[in-house]
Amino acid sequence: MGPARSRRRPRPPGPASPPRRPPVVERPSARPGPAGGAGERSRARSALRTALVEGALREAVARQGEALGREALDVLDVGGGTGGSAVPLALAGHRTTVVDPSPDALAALERRAAEAGVSDRVRAVQGDTSGLLGVVDAASADVVVCHGVLEHVDDPQEAVGHLVRALRPVGTLSLLAANRTAVVLARALAGHFGEARHALDDPDGRWGSGDPVPRRFTPGELSGLVEAAGLRVERVHGVRVLTDLVPGALVDAEPGAADALLALEAAASSHPALAAIATQLHVLAVRG
Ligand SMILES: C[S@@+](CC[C@H](N)C(=O)[O-])C[C@H]1O[C@@H](n2cnc3c(N)ncnc32)[C@H](O)[C@@H]1O
Repeated sequence: MGPARSRRRPRPPGPASPPRRPPVVERPSARPGPAGGAGERSRARSALRTALVEGALREAVARQGEALGREALDVLDVGGGTGGSAVPLALAGHRTTVVDPSPDALAALERRAAEAGVSDRVRAVQGDTSGLLGVVDAASADVVVCHGVLEHVDDPQEAVGHLVRALRPVGTLSLLAANRTAVVLARALAGHFGEARHALDDPDGRWGSGDPVPRRFTPGELSGLVEAAGLRVERVHGVRVLTDLVPGALVDAEPGAADALLALEAAASSHPALAAIATQLHVLAVRG
């Protein structure tokens, strides 16, 4: 039987006022990717972008399982797209629910889950952060994942509030969002100095009206959103500190370079000055 799917329309946004506090910066473990032929190099490059955060998520879910004394947890991935996080967690035995507004993403998720043989542990639900509690029950998830979504919602504080309400009294939230500082470096290194200057001062961290990303965050803003919703921030680390700055040809040129860069990323992710320039920020927060 295929995954269940329901539909819901988004609600209009409300006000946002995140408090700002400095984060704790810690280090997740890395799992180096493969190296070798063209296909392997391509997989290794892709792993460079996702391995650290997926590893940190795996570890956080395992810690939550130990704290609860259960092996199989209920994981809710909001904006989970095609299941890049959810399907591996389902393969690890967890019951996963992916809420996403995109029917195409949910169809791809269903195919991916079927190919992995975990359709019985993956539920696809059409919805979004603003209507989350209309499509999933409050206090129904041991772990809530929301990666790469907060940049796009109308009201980040309201969205985080809904994510937290979906958590059980003892639970973990994994939040990944774009880092405001990184875009300044990225635009400057691409020679777009005016846009870099704009991003430096823009309250939403945008480089101009053509910027496709509605907002980016500082570590303090992200931590503040989570704390205002009642959770305790356990760790914040930078994701893609150097990977997006290093030319791909340099990674492909040397056998083992991707592995070495991934190891460097793992070390840099918890280095305060380097984590501060990472493309993304990963916040792990707990309740209970
Ligand atoms: C950049 S993708 C990230 C996908 C996945 N979380 C990952 O990390 O690979 C953003 C996803 O958020 C979904 N999305 C966009 N707006 C959303 C909203 N308001 N609530 C929930 N999901 C949303 C998109 O359909 C898309 O699947």
